[in-house]
Amino acid sequence: MSWLAPYYPWLKALHILSVIAWMAGMLYLPRLFVYHTGSEPGSPASETFKTMERRLYRAIMTPAMVATWLFGIGLTLTGVVVWTTLWLYAKLLLVVAMTWLHGLFGRWRRAFAADARPHGAGFYRAINEVPTLLLIGIVILVVVKPF
Ligand code: HEM
Repeated sequence: MSWLAPYYPWLKALHILSVIAWMAGMLYLPRLFVYHTGSEPGSPASETFKTMERRLYRAIMTPAMVATWLFGIGLTLTGVVVWTTLWLYAKLLLVVAMTWLHGLFGRWRRAFAADARPHGAGFYRAINEVPTLLLIGIVILVVVKPF
């Protein structure tokens, strides 16, 4: 019996809260990129977008991602996971994809901060759907545990 077992409900509550904050940023940042792409480099609008993107990414998304991982790993140490079932491995595959996407968003944010326009608005509109699809897969796997 893990010493973490009594904290399972708290770990899960903090895990879900961190997930909500992380996903809020993953769904909002590409939307800012869509509008930022339409603004002139160096214009007041572009400078405002840079500030919004920097604060969202550094002050909310990255800490929330780290917290999601820490509380998620904490949950795996409570003894709740039956390691012969496959749902957690499939979930972690999608979570690694979400984490990789978070890194890509950071790279595009830095490009905008340097007044580059690496992609068009249509590209970010399409990218905006990816965290949504990953989120749907992750939540179904962890709540339904289909396999
Ligand atoms: C980062 C690595 C992650 C790990 C190691 C992890 C692990 C876990 C574990 C072990 C549980 C408890 C399952 C149970 O009570 O049976 C859990 C619950 C949950 N996880 Fe994660 N998770 C991670 C990331 C995420 C992400 C990114 C999301 C959503 C985007 C997510 C959504 C959830 C939800 C909604 C629950 C509650 C499920 C329920 O109440 O039945 N997790 N997670």
